[in-house]
Amino acid sequence: MNTSSISPIDLRCEYHTNPLGLGEPKPRLSWKLSATTAGARNLKQAAYQIRAASSADNLTNDKADIWDSGKVASDSSTFIPFAGPALKSGQQVFWNVSVWDQDGKPSAASDTATWEMGLLNRTDWTGQWIGSTVAGGKYQESPASMVRKDFLLPGKSIATARLYATALGFYEFHINGQRVGSDQLTPGWTDYKHRVQYQAYDVTPLLKSGDNAIGSWLADGWYCGFIGNIETRQFYGDATRLLAQLHITFTDGSTQIIPTDGTWKTSTGPIVSADMMMGQHYDARLEHTGWDAPGFDASKWSAATIFPDTGIPIVATPGPTVRETELVHPISIKRTGEHWGQHVHLLDFGQNLVGRIRLTIRNAKPGQTLRFRHAEVLDKLSTGNLYTTNLRSAKNIDSYTPRGGDVETIDPQFTFHGFRYAEILGNPSETIATEDVVAVVIHSDYQSSGSFECSEPLVNQLQKNIRWGWRGNSVDIPTDCPQRNERLGWTGDAQAFIRTAAFNYDVAGFFAKWTQDLRDAQSPFGAYPSIVPDTSPPGLKQSSSFSGDGGPAWADAGIICPWTMWACYGDVRLVEQHYESMVKFLDYLVSAASEFGGIRSHPEWKGWHGYGDWLSQDAGPGHIMGLTPKDLIGTAFIVYDARLLAQIARALGKESDAVRFEKIATDTTAVFQRRYVSPDGLVVGGTQTSYVLALHFDLLPEASRQTAVEWLVRDIKSRGTKLATGFVGTPYLNHVLSRFGKLDVAYGLLMQKNWPSWLYAVTQGATTIWERWDGWTHDKGFQDAGMNSFNHYAYGAVGDWLYQVVAGIELDVNKPGYKHILLKPQPVAGGPFTNAKASIDTWHGKIESGWELDGNKLTYRITVPPNTTAKVIVPGTNVKVVEGGVFATGGEFTVGSGTYAFTSELN
Ligand code: BGC
Repeated sequence: MNTSSISPIDLRCEYHTNPLGLGEPKPRLSWKLSATTAGARNLKQAAYQIRAASSADNLTNDKADIWDSGKVASDSSTFIPFAGPALKSGQQVFWNVSVWDQDGKPSAASDTATWEMGLLNRTDWTGQWIGSTVAGGKYQESPASMVRKDFLLPGKSIATARLYATALGFYEFHINGQRVGSDQLTPGWTDYKHRVQYQAYDVTPLLKSGDNAIGSWLADGWYCGFIGNIETRQFYGDATRLLAQLHITFTDGSTQIIPTDGTWKTSTGPIVSADMMMGQHYDARLEHTGWDAPGFDASKWSAATIFPDTGIPIVATPGPTVRETELVHPISIKRTGEHWGQHVHLLDFGQNLVGRIRLTIRNAKPGQTLRFRHAEVLDKLSTGNLYTTNLRSAKNIDSYTPRGGDVETIDPQFTFHGFRYAEILGNPSETIATEDVVAVVIHSDYQSSGSFECSEPLVNQLQKNIRWGWRGNSVDIPTDCPQRNERLGWTGDAQAFIRTAAFNYDVAGFFAKWTQDLRDAQSPFGAYPSIVPDTSPPGLKQSSSFSGDGGPAWADAGIICPWTMWACYGDVRLVEQHYESMVKFLDYLVSAASEFGGIRSHPEWKGWHGYGDWLSQDAGPGHIMGLTPKDLIGTAFIVYDARLLAQIARALGKESDAVRFEKIATDTTAVFQRRYVSPDGLVVGGTQTSYVLALHFDLLPEASRQTAVEWLVRDIKSRGTKLATGFVGTPYLNHVLSRFGKLDVAYGLLMQKNWPSWLYAVTQGATTIWERWDGWTHDKGFQDAGMNSFNHYAYGAVGDWLYQVVAGIELDVNKPGYKHILLKPQPVAGGPFTNAKASIDTWHGKIESGWELDGNKLTYRITVPPNTTAKVIVPGTNVKVVEGGVFATGGEFTVGSGTYAFTSELN
């Protein structure tokens, strides 16, 4: 009987719910706890017991034949390593967990969850890499290939069937006429020189006794399509290839494997070309109807080409795959004219998003091609045409040539575009019905975990834009932008935004994958590049931006991103795995700086000095790196890195390392003060970012901090309460102001509507975050088309200030993963908001923090999830706990789980 006050829910294995194809030999198990009685407080887990069995029946019959942890006295409920016997490839495990509460009362066992191991050894892959010889050239695109095979299954019943698949290029499997799974752009982007991921699918329901057919598309993808800064195709290799195997287990215990090999056949088909930057061109007249079903005549197809195994490591997929996550119908469809007798329609989806257009057409003329052009904005200076100059060489044009007939659905699958508007040329009828056209949004399929809302509609729109900015720039890797010929894993942008990403979405798995990419990209001397996966053309000089060292605030993502994952999710294994790499990086920084008395990126250093305070406007028009000295940024980030790494070292029990890193931080702080801080407390450069870094990273002597704050505020005020920061300073700017007693200035900057400011773009109708503060202005029009994205998340990094300071939810690194929570909202009486609230669904459950102001009377409500504690700091005087009317002085409480309300009076 369930007498416990808590019960375990939401079981996860690693970063997933009931995963297939797991690669971790000792998967970690997590659960949340829910209160069995609403309104109960101070709930805790005193112990847990995990049971793992080989079948669901065994588990429910209390036969934990794989592993029984026994009763473990512990309040841990996240990342508990499986400690049973070594797991084998394909092994399926059923598990549940029971807990004991603070009074020692046991819960019932949770619902049953499962996980299944993938192919753990290279030797498990018995298939061969296959494909076709169609290759194209550096600029010349080529058609997507199709591969297929018929096979016979005996007349016995199938217990389970799994498809393990990977490709160099994109694959999309079909079995017996049905698509396998719903993943997009698989196998995802890794540095294919180092590793390629595979995916596993349960295909049991798709198979039958007798005749079966399996087939896959094979398209360019990142492997051989155009890649951002390379400007040519075939960066990793010249032709796509596929490796897969279908494992079938029958109920009598026998097995059969269908691997890719020379018995498969290949052909080109209707996908004339498919490239992420350029678009997909589909000629339906070239379709092979029934190609993915038995009975298809493949006599005209050729034998698949066998490619030698390059030995590339094939790894499981740690993070979420890309999927369709939302369908957005247009808010307006206008027929804008006619072009050579064909209709031209302009569609507005009302949202700058990432994906592609799905359109249903009827009674089209065979061979009369439709063309789809995409754009983020309209050319406001002329007639409202699509503005595509900022896409640079990325064409973003899809086309479809109808076969003719009743109904056809156009649905490109191997490309994506960043767009709000689209022009469709050649729709067969004069009107397009809203229900016939939809924008299919794609990105990595993580869960939404956070929400923020306040009384100011413009700030709520900013928050929406921040979220959409992340969605569009997390198509398998964190990117700078999704529309032009770039879409790269810029490390500086990722480190600036990662904390905001982790408030809004559960990005634990997403970044677990990308931190592997970071390690793959680390140069032999220890630096991290500015783009990960690393797309540097080979053989560039040390002073170039592709030297292997991304420079200050870019390379540092190698420490900041893993640290953030540890802090937000308590993911210790991630930082353990990344530890050696981070230490090597820090040691590289210190040793490179030692030649110049501890100054990183010293003007005389021969290496790449970095991107400065990228896109700050303090150096005037045309100067995209800002005025803040690069060596100041570099030296400041050494201190920050060293402090973060010291925290990680301590969490891993590496005390002497922690002490060493702290010494690096202290010594480098002294270097910083000597070189950049005047005896009067002025910081060299005098820029907002110089002050922000000095204050945020605690680089100033205690005594000069307030002076520095005054200088920062003076600069902001002298510009009419405006910021002058770029990618480096902006994320910390408001944090510094609120931390050092200038909350009013921070709110002033947040509410500023003229550029440069966060709300300027919002007032211009932006639905995502712009790359540049002045992406478009009334007097100047569009910024330089060479670099003017309307969907760049970096400046959205103010989002973490909304959660942490306005709504007041912060973690405590001493108990990472929100095991202990700090709740400290900072409203201002007479300030811009009369209410604000946020929530985050952490790995421990949902935290809520929200306040309302009536004049200076504050009501503050919080929810603290079971098995966590929180320190609550209620601002103002005369603080009262509402229920019970307990009077408390100082406004500081330590509370256990539950929902609480407080009142106080702000000054
Ligand atoms: C990208 C950035 C990136 C920068 C580095 C740009 O082209 O879009 O966001 O961080 O280059 O300088």
